[in-house]
Amino acid sequence: MNSFDIRTKIYFGDNALDRLEQLPYRRVLVITDPFIEKSGMLQLVTYRLKNRGIEFDIFTDVVPDPPIEKITKGVEKVSSYNPDCIIAIGGGSALDEAKAIREFAMKIVQGKEIALIAIPTTSGTGSEVTSFAVVTDSQKGVKYPLVSESMLPTEAILDAELVKSVPATVTADTGMDVLTHALEAYVSTNNNEFSNALAEKAIEICGTFLLRSYLDNNDTHARKKMHVASCLAGLAFNSASLGLNHGIAHAIGAQFHIPHGRANAMVLPHIIEYNSEINKHSKSRPTYPACVRKYVNAAKLLGVSNFNEITTVRALVSYIQFMMKEMNMPLSVSQCGVSKDEYFNAIDKMAESAINDACTPTNPRVPSKAEVVAILEKMYE
Ligand SMILES: NC(=O)c1ccc[n+]([C@@H]2O[C@H](COP(=O)([O-])OP(=O)(O)OC[C@H]3O[C@@H](n4cnc5c(N)ncnc54)[C@H](O)[C@@H]3O)[C@@H](O)[C@H]2O)c1
Ligand SMILES: [Zn+2]
Repeated sequence: MNSFDIRTKIYFGDNALDRLEQLPYRRVLVITDPFIEKSGMLQLVTYRLKNRGIEFDIFTDVVPDPPIEKITKGVEKVSSYNPDCIIAIGGGSALDEAKAIREFAMKIVQGKEIALIAIPTTSGTGSEVTSFAVVTDSQKGVKYPLVSESMLPTEAILDAELVKSVPATVTADTGMDVLTHALEAYVSTNNNEFSNALAEKAIEICGTFLLRSYLDNNDTHARKKMHVASCLAGLAFNSASLGLNHGIAHAIGAQFHIPHGRANAMVLPHIIEYNSEINKHSKSRPTYPACVRKYVNAAKLLGVSNFNEITTVRALVSYIQFMMKEMNMPLSVSQCGVSKDEYFNAIDKMAESAINDACTPTNPRVPSKAEVVAILEKMYE
């Protein structure tokens, strides 16, 4: 038996933030990162809360890849302020930190329901509609995806006004995160017709609008589309989960502080080759792994399908590398400035943590540690 639902109510389109003037809550804790506060974006939330006569306080102790200590501080804040709603506004880091804070506050301190409204300011993680929150143990250098339905936001507000200011590098990183979510959900062992429909639409939008949003900050149409694609891909992987690509990206990201989407993009060509068992030496064969049909469909949606399975999967890999070059992203770990010795010394630990990552079990090919080590080695140059 299988089931599919979308628990988070999604407000989207022009002026979606106006939903804040209808909220039924009395006391709100706003969780955001310091940049969102300084940039003036936070005011777009707070003036609406004031208009509605809602009391609020603000917690800005958020850093990229939220570590456990910040979550502890947030839980203390919730326990002293006692809100009936948390509004999380920011990139995936702010949303995930808020999700984890609320989860622990409800379980440990409050023992009561606190609503959560997630307002993404990047078009990337889809965290506004997922039951995932990625937290980092900075001492151990490990990222843990926490997964629990109770972390699903009550509401998500997609207002593309908030992503206008995203700089090109962040557009590239987060946009490649969207494409990775969609592709991983699409080939996941848990994929289903519902998640496939969502993943296909997200892939199609990335093909048409990601480069446009990167090249022109003022291309509002492209930015609006990518904001929706990010949410569609989040819904897809919330149902189908992800795979080894995220398992490895979490390991590298935690160890070398490489932004999440950038790490995913660097892994993606290697994972497609690994899952499809197709690389530059491949000859055609009578049958292929089941995920090959999916990669071929994805290539069609991106407009790069080709002569047969092998040339099409090769075209998909080339397309991803082309996008990364066009968006001035590093293609390998060495291009991120990580020293070879440091990287190779960490490979064993990273392979271990990728194998144990909560995203890895739904990968279409079950990886051995030796295979993950081989992928990590190839990723350096
Ligand atoms: N929960 C999930 O389902 C899920 C899925 C994928 C990734 N993640 C996690 O999310 C985090 C990454 O999130 P992210 O990629 O959104 O990056 P981020 O939240 O770390 O933000 C990246 C940078 O962009 C800035 N920024 C955010 N919005 C901006 C805007 N509108 N204008 C200008 N700058 C802006 C931030 O201040 C920050 O400096 C990672 O920890 C990753 O592991 C979570
Ligand atoms: Zn991701």
